[in-house]
Amino acid sequence: MDIRVVNLRDSDGLSDTRIIPFYEGIDLEEISFLEDSIEAMVSHLVRVEKFTGKYGQLESFRIPREKNPKNIILAGLGKEDELDLEKIRRLNAKAIKESQKLGAKSIKLYPFNLPASIELVDFARAVAESTLLTNYSFDKYKSDRKDSTLREFNIVYIEYDSVESLNEGVVEGTILGEFTILARNLTNEPANHMTPQILAEEAQKAGIQNGFDVEVLDESEIENLGMESFLSVGQASDNPPRFVIMRYFGNEKNKDEILGLVGKGITFDSGGLCIKPAGSMPEMKSDMAGAAAVIGAMSAISKLGVKANVVGVVAACENSISGHAYRPGDIIGSMAGKTIEVVNTDAEGRLTLADAVYYAVEKENVSRVVDIATLTGAALVALGTTTTAIVSNSDSLCSDIEKAASLSGEKVWRLPAFEEYKELLKSEIADIKNSGSRNASTITAGLFIESFTGSKPWAHLDIAGTSWADKDSDYIKKDGTGVGVRTLYHLAKASAETE
Ligand code: BES
Ligand code: MN
Ligand code: ZN
Repeated sequence: MDIRVVNLRDSDGLSDTRIIPFYEGIDLEEISFLEDSIEAMVSHLVRVEKFTGKYGQLESFRIPREKNPKNIILAGLGKEDELDLEKIRRLNAKAIKESQKLGAKSIKLYPFNLPASIELVDFARAVAESTLLTNYSFDKYKSDRKDSTLREFNIVYIEYDSVESLNEGVVEGTILGEFTILARNLTNEPANHMTPQILAEEAQKAGIQNGFDVEVLDESEIENLGMESFLSVGQASDNPPRFVIMRYFGNEKNKDEILGLVGKGITFDSGGLCIKPAGSMPEMKSDMAGAAAVIGAMSAISKLGVKANVVGVVAACENSISGHAYRPGDIIGSMAGKTIEVVNTDAEGRLTLADAVYYAVEKENVSRVVDIATLTGAALVALGTTTTAIVSNSDSLCSDIEKAASLSGEKVWRLPAFEEYKELLKSEIADIKNSGSRNASTITAGLFIESFTGSKPWAHLDIAGTSWADKDSDYIKKDGTGVGVRTLYHLAKASAETE
């Protein structure tokens, strides 16, 4: 799909559908740029109080016998001082879905005055993201799939001095939309089509296409690094593990500032010998959503030339069941040298992340590390599907993530990480155990990983709730959401701006 910025005066006859946004308490003066016939219709709807401009309200009508436009959609922005980027994304999504019902192939979004709190570039980025994400569907395995109906989306401007900012936002939003879609696609692929090897190949493909370096280690190379913890999780599967390192150096001047992004890459989580119940298993093809987010974010960071150094790491394997499986009660080693008592083979993500995070700190010299993982069902219980849980040892890294999340519209919430919680992971016969009790299990899962970070500033994003949607809503589609791509991009971009 094409997203463009067009001048009102050159756009007559362009697009079959118009979206015209209004603030609450509609000021008809503001629509004097509309053709008389359309202005009259809008005035009528306002006069009979069918349309008030309340946030989220849509009113659509067809224009008889007209070709372009055929459809007009009035969209309520609500109160001007309450408008924000996420409301713009959601309203745009709603209006696009209405357009699609009317058979729209091309849309023109009409301009409105932005509140002082919203920059033009951010507005355009939000609209482009929402447009691409709303138009997404995962239908490659459907024999009777239909092509997406929407072909183009035009953002209309009146003032010439806004073109540059709008274009900049569209470029950024288009790339972020595209790579969030990449993450959705990787997440939605079933495990028979998304093995560790295929995930590694997807990272390599993304590296070649978007200009970052990718190295893939095979089983014996992983063994040589001493990653016993990671290897234990994957050892039951016939699909061998892969360790993927993605390197992007956009700031040669500041070589010791490196952001590490570590994504959980379990291509299928059966639970291992502590097998999951049948009902919760199909979704476990998405247990590599963290890895998908890292691959998507690396792609966006590199494609947009962010002036920061970022290293992405994914330890990809399948938590399967066979005579070779690791067992509850096993004591295993790790690259960091710590011994781990395995009390639950379904707490596998942290075992792979322990080695991956330690590797990032020790071998890639990252100065800060963020891991992103579908780690605990408890994150879903605590915060639901809308909010990602953070566990962290660094106030400043947390606040950077919160700022990045406010630009992406992805919600995050920090959980406490008091020393006392570490007690729950004490083992009587090894250095640490891989699971505490049910209590505070999102926190203890995070703190398990923290003990492998060598006290570097670290934050853990638990996306078990946010990476998978059980139904469509706004610009989110059922199944893989691609969460994290945009927030991690903004995090890297902000670190470039402060240097
Ligand atoms: N991949 C799961 C977590 C998960 C659950 C993600 C639901 C998405 C939706 C993880 O590996 C897991 O099994 N966690 C266990 C940990 C427990 C055994 C300590 C959990 O949350 O039950
Ligand atoms: Mn598990
Ligand atoms: Zn898992």
